[in-house]
Amino acid sequence: MKPTTLSHLRQWKQQGRKFATLTAYDFSFARLFADEGIAVLLIGDSLGMTVQGHDSTLPVTVEHIAYHTAAVRRGAPQALVMADLPFMAYATPEQTCANAAQLMRAGANLVKLEGGAWLCETVRQLTERAVPVCGHLGLTPQSVNIFGGYKVQGRDSDAADRLLADALALEAAGAQLLVLECVPVALARRVTDALAIPVIGIGAGNVTDGQILVMHDAFGLTGGHIPKFTKNFLTGQPDIRAAVRAYIAEVEAGTWPAAEHSFQ
Ligand code: KIV
Repeated sequence: MKPTTLSHLRQWKQQGRKFATLTAYDFSFARLFADEGIAVLLIGDSLGMTVQGHDSTLPVTVEHIAYHTAAVRRGAPQALVMADLPFMAYATPEQTCANAAQLMRAGANLVKLEGGAWLCETVRQLTERAVPVCGHLGLTPQSVNIFGGYKVQGRDSDAADRLLADALALEAAGAQLLVLECVPVALARRVTDALAIPVIGIGAGNVTDGQILVMHDAFGLTGGHIPKFTKNFLTGQPDIRAAVRAYIAEVEAGTWPAAEHSFQ
């Protein structure tokens, strides 16, 4: 099998072919996901909650992400591996370059960062230095203390227009992918249609080019409050491999996420 690249994702968008992605944090799950056909893996700073047991992503460091990125890369040598720049890891140009380099050396193909037009210079700086960038808009968990909780974003028309402008600015600055989290479906459609780069949604309806889920949510491992935009794909399946195949099939058919898992 050939490595998955950003060009494949762009081609899939042009062809209208939807693709499924998952977070992964270790060798064994990365290998299983790749074996079953997941071509894009994210080492998300969600590991602060799912792996480390914190109540936010803020305690996660670049060293943590690098450690898990190296493990995921060993499990999925051909996957497109995306690694999160965690909280405060891209606050200054010097930090941004050094931290992105650490993640690329650990095995990432690109880095993801959270925020809008204010990050354009950072995106340009990374791209010019050979680090591809995925933007992340909507509910950006590193800003939980600004938002006052994990809330749907872009609900009113001003906020929706601002988010679309941010997405266009990030693309113009060189971002090659965009994650869109917890926004109304109509806004997700506007952003997906307006951008040439692929848009990967979570809690953004079935209108984006790709979908992502936190792996613990996809297999019902998350305790406490279960977010509306997640689903336990293990239900009714004999094992995790079958659950991954079910997830991929639903994403490719456009049946995941259904209306009850989306925000209107
Ligand atoms: O950290 C993460 O896992 C993420 C996804 C929810 C997109 O950013």
